Amino acid sequence: MYRSHNCGELRASHINTEVTLSGWVQKSRDKGFIVWVDLRDRYGITQLIFDDERTEKSVMDLAQNLGREFVIQITGTVIERTSKNPNIPTGDIEILVSELTVLNSSKTPPFTIEDETDGGEDIRMKYRYLDIRRNPVKNSLIFRHKVTQEVRNFLSKEGFIEVETPYLIKSTPEGARDFVVPSRMNEGQFYALPQSPQTFKQLLMIGGMDKYFQIVKCFRDEDLRADRQPEFTQIDCEMAFVEQEDILNAFEGLTRHLLKEVNGVEIKEFPRMLYDDAMRLYGNDKPDIRFGMEFGELNDVAQHKDFGVFNSAELVVGIAVPGGNSYTRKDIDKLIDWVKRPQVGALGMVYSRCNDDGSYKSSVDKFYDQDDLAKWANVTGAKAGDLVCILSGDTNKVRAQLSALRMELAERLGLRNPKEFAPLWVIDFPLLELDEETGHYHAMHHPFTSPKSGQLELLKTNPGDVKANAYDLVLNGNEIGGGSIRIHDKDIQATMLKHLGFSEEDAKAQFGFLMDAFEYGAPPHGGLAFGLDRLVAILDGQETIRDYIAFPKNNSGRDIMIDAPAPIDDEQLEELSLKLNLKS
Ligand code: AMO
Repeated sequence: MYRSHNCGELRASHINTEVTLSGWVQKSRDKGFIVWVDLRDRYGITQLIFDDERTEKSVMDLAQNLGREFVIQITGTVIERTSKNPNIPTGDIEILVSELTVLNSSKTPPFTIEDETDGGEDIRMKYRYLDIRRNPVKNSLIFRHKVTQEVRNFLSKEGFIEVETPYLIKSTPEGARDFVVPSRMNEGQFYALPQSPQTFKQLLMIGGMDKYFQIVKCFRDEDLRADRQPEFTQIDCEMAFVEQEDILNAFEGLTRHLLKEVNGVEIKEFPRMLYDDAMRLYGNDKPDIRFGMEFGELNDVAQHKDFGVFNSAELVVGIAVPGGNSYTRKDIDKLIDWVKRPQVGALGMVYSRCNDDGSYKSSVDKFYDQDDLAKWANVTGAKAGDLVCILSGDTNKVRAQLSALRMELAERLGLRNPKEFAPLWVIDFPLLELDEETGHYHAMHHPFTSPKSGQLELLKTNPGDVKANAYDLVLNGNEIGGGSIRIHDKDIQATMLKHLGFSEEDAKAQFGFLMDAFEYGAPPHGGLAFGLDRLVAILDGQETIRDYIAFPKNNSGRDIMIDAPAPIDDEQLEELSLKLNLKS
């Protein structure tokens, strides 16, 4: 028996009990005649004590030679500590050790296994198993487990069945590139790893499963960011005989359940916002509504004077920064430099100070009088003491720029409280999105999304105006889920694919199986998928998903611990019929 207790459970009530513990040496302090060792496992830390008077010499010798991260097993008696440590649950006791076995030695770890480690990101990723021993990473994984467990509990109780779908499939278009896997048995042919189980869950609805979910890995070859990994996990869900309202209610229920069980937060209403309003008011389809700073469009009150920059702009739009009038000229110059960084890309920023006496002072006083500036304050909702920041240019670009500024200022002003939760449904997304480079439309969600009823005709004349039965769930400014009501009619699906530029042949080759299935009684259906990694991180008050994934990839998509991706040898290439292709 390696242990009678774990390292987090012994208390004063155990005093005089003989116990056996196993774990890692967190640290040891050797005073010559007395040695203390902090023994750590997943559950906590227990202090061990060895001393000249009470410990056998052979045990004492061993104790004096323990290094950090040695794995040991001890037997001893629980005694009361002379100097107690109120900061840890086991702080009232220590173990007077009588037997010590070194189960395994350890090299000195390349970074300290402490909450605040001295190890940089790269070294921690290379030795991720050591990083996982640290509380912040360990606790994130435990937190993820808790969320996942609650998801399974809730959905199972609601009648959803967890079904696994295959990983070796054919391309599922979710807007990213596929990771492909060569097939040895089918020369020159490739599987694609699923970007999501989208088509399979639709087939499960045709198969009569009615309510499906799956906690499932998805693979997308796309540029990485703090909230994106090339392989990530979805809580993928689908329901038959539902309308949008049914889906929103069902998954609002799941989110409410998680917030209550995991965070102890009760949220009654999930507000809903039209996509067009989200873009107009926040410049973004995933607005953080924990704070205001809504956009005020200023074309009407800014394009009547001789200020060419505003006059030539498609959109002039501003926000009121609460208390921003306290910024010095230097602060504002820095802010202007910030919006001009290539990542934001604004050409400049106009501002107007709202003074306490009701007067205004702007950077464009040459062109605008007090009445104009009062209107700007009015439209942006600025009060005395605030600063109005204004950007102008092409609508899409300027919205994205002002949205970035809004989020940055909110961060600086401490308005993004991670303990506060503000979920929001963004609904009525456009069906199609124009790819500015190619001039072609592509599906904004995916090609199986149904247009709003009665809008099919618009596809021919104004494709960009067609709205979809598509929705995103936003939490604290992050898209944590998205879904849609699907097309379940073969002809409509064919029309849709045609509009997306698929020839009849291509459509058949890529989605023939789904179109065929639509001919055998496909029920109306729809669903949604949450990004589990994102959901977990945000519920835990974070926005970087990496710490919630046991073995994540770095920014170049590499696993630097196992050193993947890596070349494969010639023999394997040949077996996969890849060698010749590569050379040719
Ligand atoms: P969508 O593409 O919106 O929808 O994905 C659903 C959710 O998955 C998360 N997500 C990611 N998380 C981490 N890393 C990534 N690279 C990544 N990409 C997406 C997001 C997103 O909201 N099949 C549809 C769902 C449906 O229609 O039912 C789909 O995959 O949180």
